[in-house]
Amino acid sequence: MTTIEIFDLTGKVALVTGSTKGLGHSMAKGLAQAGAQVIVNGRRQEDCDAAARKLADETGGEFTGMACHMGDWSQIESLVERAYGECGRVDVLVNNAGINPAPVMLADCTQEYWDKVYDVNLKGPMRLAALVAPRMGEMGGGSIINVTTLGAYMGGPSVGVYTSCKAALNNLTRVMAAEWVSLGVRVNALAPGPFMSEMMKGADRVNPNFSRGSAAATLMKRVADCDEVIGSVVYLASDASSFVTGTDLKVSGGL
Ligand SMILES: NC(=O)c1ccc[n+]([C@@H]2O[C@H](COP(=O)([O-])OP(=O)(O)OC[C@H]3O[C@@H](n4cnc5c(N)ncnc54)[C@H](OP(=O)(O)O)[C@@H]3O)[C@@H](O)[C@H]2O)c1
Repeated sequence: MTTIEIFDLTGKVALVTGSTKGLGHSMAKGLAQAGAQVIVNGRRQEDCDAAARKLADETGGEFTGMACHMGDWSQIESLVERAYGECGRVDVLVNNAGINPAPVMLADCTQEYWDKVYDVNLKGPMRLAALVAPRMGEMGGGSIINVTTLGAYMGGPSVGVYTSCKAALNNLTRVMAAEWVSLGVRVNALAPGPFMSEMMKGADRVNPNFSRGSAAATLMKRVADCDEVIGSVVYLASDASSFVTGTDLKVSGGL
């Protein structure tokens, strides 16, 4: 295969959770531009359909909107049935949907807050991957990408619920890679640094210096545009990373 061919995703189906906006939206665009048919996901069907239409207009690619709340296991089971029913296969799963609600110190953390963050950021991705991996195996293998964060490696005041579940997702990435290597399924984590998405704008509303501080903490002294994640996700999704599993890729401007 030529160098260009190893990045080619023609004939593949990619499911990107949380792709109505932000990093997931850029990932969906990039995977489609590499040839994949992409399932666009968010919580509401009308938002998924609108994002799918916008992406199709921009790229000429094939997109299907499928709503699912990633904190609800019964909805996740329905999503998998729908994905295989309508698209026939899933070759690439990007567990990208995530939430980072207003920061809270541990002493003030409620059970409701803890459960909400862990349900969407950890339990949902685990369940979705566990349902998809065996079916990927039956169809010759695949690639699963778990989106974590640079914060998973450091932790700090008031963000511990968010960063600890992402740290656990890093650990589970390694477990998944070990459990599913015999199925031909590779599993890796993609750890973003600061990207200018709705999540980052929300953090700026709580702390007006958040994105400036995040930029200052990177070696490159800036916040990235969401499209700057495309190269990394296409690399991990495609044969370009055929010998890469159980690892994490930091896309962080050197944070
Ligand atoms: N931006 C950053 O600087 C940064 C840094 C490190 C890590 N990350 C990680 O990157 C991922 C994407 O973040 P982002 O900044 O792009 O966030 P974002 O702009 O807030 O977008 C989040 C996406 O997830 C979807 N979503 C939220 N809750 C969901 C749920 N319960 N079920 C299904 N979909 C849901 C949203 O869709 P709907 O609103 O349509 O439901 C949206 O498409 C997250 O996992 C985040 O933790 C981001």
